[in-house]
Amino acid sequence: MIGSEAVVDRVAKELLDSGLEMKREEMLSRHTTIRVGGPAQIFTRPRSADEMLVALLAARKSGLPIKVLGAGSNLLVSDDGVRGLVVHTGALSSVTFPGDGVVEAGAGTHFPALVRQTASRGLRGLEAGIGIPGSLGGVITMNAGAYQFAIGPQVEIVEAVSPELGKVSLKGDEIDFRYRTSSFGPDLIVVSARLSLTVDDVGAIKRDMDRHMRFRKETQPVGVKSAGCIFKNPAGDSAGRLIESLGLKGLGVGGARVSDLHANFIVHDGGVSARDISALIETIRERARREASVELEPEVMTWST
Ligand code: EPU
Repeated sequence: MIGSEAVVDRVAKELLDSGLEMKREEMLSRHTTIRVGGPAQIFTRPRSADEMLVALLAARKSGLPIKVLGAGSNLLVSDDGVRGLVVHTGALSSVTFPGDGVVEAGAGTHFPALVRQTASRGLRGLEAGIGIPGSLGGVITMNAGAYQFAIGPQVEIVEAVSPELGKVSLKGDEIDFRYRTSSFGPDLIVVSARLSLTVDDVGAIKRDMDRHMRFRKETQPVGVKSAGCIFKNPAGDSAGRLIESLGLKGLGVGGARVSDLHANFIVHDGGVSARDISALIETIRERARREASVELEPEVMTWST
């Protein structure tokens, strides 16, 4: 049986024998920005592409499901947790500046920290993404965006691993970046990326970065527990505008409620379950379907057993 104790024991031992960090029943609420989520049967944090491959192959060989976790910012994990292996990219966080206008960073690098570091080096290109609360790997994988910012144009090379192909190197123009999705996913996992930026005045870049952060704080619930935007924008509209027009700001289920600042965010002050959040998401979808004939598509990923 998938995830049965004997199989989990075997994979856990294989990871430990290979020198990887390994935890059993790690609560994923510790690793998601909305602070909900039950345990992962096996949790590991590889320090290199080779370690990542060891983990992926061990799980694959035993038929265990594999999930990849970055900053946990666009993710809703069920209260019952997930079966199989969760690979956390947090230890892949080195940042280097190997040449003019170039930065190389691990998939687990916190994106706002990378934006700040590049700005301090006088490298322009990421500043509008300052408020994206993800990891670099997550930003690339889901092609996260904000204002005029998109990661695609700055990506020179991505180093990735695949359980089938091993280590893979992709040039920017070989990657398919679309609205909130890309060529990457559970079968092709970002390990690191080289970004090509433009050299500019540090003060000017920081001013732009601060302006974006200020605007974001005025329009989105920054610093409050959330999973980012819940729904993708429907064609030609903003999901937030639509949800507000249905009168749903402030609507709550259990401990979860629609943000008063931006209606495409679900927020809470603690004491919330994934079940509450999922129920609120379904209520919003149903109201949009019935009252506006719009099918809202979730942007947050959901993981369940
Ligand atoms: N609006 C409302 N009510 C609301 C929210 C928004 O009327 O509750 C209106 C705003 O006044 C504005 C329009 O809707 O006129 C658009 O709002 P906003 O600029 O906030 O952009 P958005 O389309 O709602 C998108 C992304 C955000 C990103 C912002 C800024 C999606 C689903 N959302 O939101 O991304 O930060 O633009 O670039 O693509 C995310 O993906 O997690 C996310 C938050």
